[in-house]
Amino acid sequence: MNDYIKEREESTRKLAAEQVLPNVQWFPGHMTKARKIITENLKLVDVVIELLDARIPYSSANPMLQEIIAGKPKVVALNKSDLADPAITKKWVAYFRSKGIQAVAVDATQGKGTKQLVKITEEMARSKTEKLVSKGVKARSARVMILGIPNVGKSSLINRLAGSNKAKTADKPGVTRAKQWIRLADSLELLDTPGILWPKFEDMNAGLKLAFTGAINDEAVDRELITGVFLDTMIKLYPERIKERYKITDELPETSGELLELIGKKRGCLVKGGVVDLEKAQRIVLTDFRSGKLGTVSLDTPPAIEEAENSQEKN
Ligand code: G4P
Repeated sequence: MNDYIKEREESTRKLAAEQVLPNVQWFPGHMTKARKIITENLKLVDVVIELLDARIPYSSANPMLQEIIAGKPKVVALNKSDLADPAITKKWVAYFRSKGIQAVAVDATQGKGTKQLVKITEEMARSKTEKLVSKGVKARSARVMILGIPNVGKSSLINRLAGSNKAKTADKPGVTRAKQWIRLADSLELLDTPGILWPKFEDMNAGLKLAFTGAINDEAVDRELITGVFLDTMIKLYPERIKERYKITDELPETSGELLELIGKKRGCLVKGGVVDLEKAQRIVLTDFRSGKLGTVSLDTPPAIEEAENSQEKN
């Protein structure tokens, strides 16, 4: 790739990030409120399930989670694993385990991995409650809550885990403000209300990936810039997927602009005079990615976390 293209790509990336980041930013007031709610609910639980997007486990993580949960045992659930590259998800699971953190790949819509998630959570919770009992505390069911950024699949996972077990405590007169709990196992209950965390907005690349996946509302971002950066990423990481999906037999163009135009042509997004309707082509590309039509794609790999941690330590 020549220097001119490289430079142009980098400046598009920066421009796109500048567009995205202010929109990902939560007002400090929102963060304080979210943190307060989580802290209050945390008091009620023994274990937390941190829900991450399996396609972007690094970018979809909350940068302050460890501090917020303050030593509470946690299990990581890599959700939307049906959309992520299975080989990379496997590496993520191994990576978390190497750090002493239990991790499971799940698909909340189909219910894949959820039994294993419940089993691991139950084991972690049991070791916690057994410790309490040994200290003389009366035996009780262990309790767990789900935490994650918007759109990561918290409600879908709760609904999937709930099945027909939804607790009906709020239906009883006089207890409308009581917490609702869903029984997941003999001695394990799940809080019906998830904790909403804010994303990693201070990181340019994370912000862009959140925009690709749709974690940030499309109305709030410049779709042209986002699609451009997304295609640049796909040209580098998964060129074959793009070729397959859009039936491109030649080498892919070097720039995302040319590629988008080609995709538009291939998909018949033409307006009068044979001009490509680029907006339509952009929507097609992003929808194809988000719905898995580009195949399973992962945009964060485990070393990214290690590098980030190292650079955070240096700063
Ligand atoms: P949240 O509570 O964390 O905000 O997320 P929510 O459950 O609302 O899920 C956000 C979107 O992600 C939903 O799609 C949901 O269907 C989808 N989703 C959740 N888990 C998975 C998963 O494991 N795999 C896949 N492929 N999708 C998942 P939506 O388009 O907003 O709504 P809809 O399509 O369900 O109507």
